[in-house]
Amino acid sequence: MRTVYLNGDYLPENEAKVSIFDRGFLMADGVYEVTSVLDGKLLEFEGHLQRLKRSLSELDMGRPKGFDDLLEIHRELVRVNEVEQGGVYLQITRGAADRDFVYPKDVHPTLCLFTQSKPLLNTEASRKGMSVIFADDIRWGRRDIKTVQLLYPSMCKMMAKEAGADDAWLVEDGFVTEGSSNNAYIVKGNKIITRSLSNDILHGITRASLLKYAKESQIEIEERNFTPREAITADEAFISSASTFVMPVVNIEGEVIGDGTPGVVSKRLREIYVEESRKRAI
Ligand code: PDD
Repeated sequence: MRTVYLNGDYLPENEAKVSIFDRGFLMADGVYEVTSVLDGKLLEFEGHLQRLKRSLSELDMGRPKGFDDLLEIHRELVRVNEVEQGGVYLQITRGAADRDFVYPKDVHPTLCLFTQSKPLLNTEASRKGMSVIFADDIRWGRRDIKTVQLLYPSMCKMMAKEAGADDAWLVEDGFVTEGSSNNAYIVKGNKIITRSLSNDILHGITRASLLKYAKESQIEIEERNFTPREAITADEAFISSASTFVMPVVNIEGEVIGDGTPGVVSKRLREIYVEESRKRAI
């Protein structure tokens, strides 16, 4: 059984309990982060912490007790649960208060973390590539805040599954925004094309580092909107996220991308990303 963290305590997972009045439960009034673990070490911890602070401040949410110890808490959970590869999930909600749309005063934010052990490196998707379908992006307009309102992304994953695909890329006003839980990219020649940052997409921590490493490796980057048609006719496509790093996309809406196997640029970027972030893991 895993050990999890809840509001100051390390507990067996079946003993960690949160109030039914918690606003995360009643109103999806909460934010989260997922930090990956490789070799028992945390990847991109500082990036996730900075985005978490921003999410809290955008929602006028307080910092829970234990906030200053987040690195230590992450490390302790990885240690006691013996996570070699996988991730640490962290969630902060506004806390428990009688149900009211108005934010309660004097509420204590709820902080919980748990680990998930799973292979991240040598997965079938990384070897063979993945398939995506398109879905309308009908999410709210503050996708830059990493909130726990994940019902539509879940519906998208189900739509993808029903269509025999692995995931969905979301489309708004004729352009791809991002994947249901990742950032989306296409490759033309030696150039990576990905949507620029705005409130329309989550500012991926993996995306930020990946673009930096790509630049350092003389790979050209164009941050602009691209259409579903451009994606289908691209040389390569891929996604990025904490849990997938860089994952080649080899089929979009049933159309084969390139020769249907992970492309050279996507494979190289995956290697670079894993190598560089591993070096910086803490
Ligand atoms: N998802 N876009 C969306 C909508 C996401 O949910 C995520 C992350 C990303 C990539 O962000 P990052 O590189 O910081 O992981 C982009 C996480 C992994 C999840 O929900 O499990």
